[in-house]
Amino acid sequence: MLVHVTGGAGFIGSNFLHRMVARHPEHRFVCVDKLTYAANLASLAGVESLPNYALARVDITDAAAVQALFDQETPDLVVHFAAESHVDRSILGPYEFVKTNVEGTFHLLEACRRAWGSSLGQSQPRGRFHHVSTDEVYGSLGDEGFFTEATAYDPSSPYSATKASSDHLVRAYARTYGMPVTITNCSNNYGPRQFPEKLIPLMVAHALERKPLPIYGNGLNVRDWLYVDDHCEAIWAVIERGRLGATYNVGGHNELRNVDVIDTLCAVVAEFTGADVSELLALKTHVTDRPGHDHRYAIDASKVRAECGWAPAETFETGIRKTVRWYLENQAWVDAVRSGEYRRWIDSNYASR
Ligand code: NAD
Ligand code: TYD
Repeated sequence: MLVHVTGGAGFIGSNFLHRMVARHPEHRFVCVDKLTYAANLASLAGVESLPNYALARVDITDAAAVQALFDQETPDLVVHFAAESHVDRSILGPYEFVKTNVEGTFHLLEACRRAWGSSLGQSQPRGRFHHVSTDEVYGSLGDEGFFTEATAYDPSSPYSATKASSDHLVRAYARTYGMPVTITNCSNNYGPRQFPEKLIPLMVAHALERKPLPIYGNGLNVRDWLYVDDHCEAIWAVIERGRLGATYNVGGHNELRNVDVIDTLCAVVAEFTGADVSELLALKTHVTDRPGHDHRYAIDASKVRAECGWAPAETFETGIRKTVRWYLENQAWVDAVRSGEYRRWIDSNYASR
């Protein structure tokens, strides 16, 4: 089977490739990635030397480039991670989010529709499009309740609005053209290889550099944290055992307030580095709140558990220790993604199609 993994050089996509390329030598994996600021080829060290792996530098907003890739060889499975993914960036510049998350998804769906053509709508259609989405499409919860697959979409940010649009497009292609799709809507991920603009890697980096730890607003917003490997396993479980056309919510039942996440990170960084924890805690700084900041996300993951047999392996306590350990041992990775020199190296060595 030929598997296209869009966004495979980003945080979750690279962790997915680390697990699946080695585990499935019978499949060939192509990482389809524009290599934006959020990508890091160092995240694929160890994968890129495997014989069943290849990289195609393709911008999914470029319909001709996507079609040229499909013309070379038709994928049997597309696992679609590629997106602009940071809420704060979407507030500052929403257009890139519309382009990649909506138009890019559209061009992929069109390429799949052409490629899988006459089999679509038949009892055994060719291909599979797995769409990786977020719980943020559901908007914000109050202090009680959980997002289920039946919760109405109510996105708050340009990021979540564009992810919601892409979910609608994917579902429409299933209903209209009979495209074999599955969708996962997952809660906040954390783990190795996450770009240090997101809460957890940003706080670890700042704690190590003794820089302020910026807490948006009162810091009482709640996120349901899931270790990235658990998300990757959920995606594979849905690809293998999910019902065509179905959506599955994925989450870890690890609801935490931002202030508690930051306190835990300070404690773990202090334990691993010998720093004085009170010195790290003193770096906490409340800053202006994010506009439209969702109060709480929490996932009811009973459907994916019942239908696909998935359950998370990590608790927040175990996952956060692995995560902090990884960032401490991979400082060069963090320095590289933050440097302009690295971007120039990528651009001179990896031509776009
Ligand atoms: P990321 O920002 O770390 O990586 C995104 C990847 O997509 C990068 O490698 C980037 O180069 C690539 N990309 C961006 N624009 C592209 C384009 N036009 N063409 C081709 N490639 C492009 O994102 P992530 O955190 O790994 O998230 C992956 C997916 O999972 C996203 O769709 C996101 O919405 C979803 N998701 C993320 C989380 C989370 O907590 N990070 C939670 C739930 C769902
Ligand atoms: P983030 O990692 O950006 O994920 P998302 O917005 O998709 O949930 O942020 C997680 C939470 O942490 C969110 O409530 C915003 C908050 N936050 C801060 O308080 N300070 C920061 O510097 C960042 C990046 C996020």
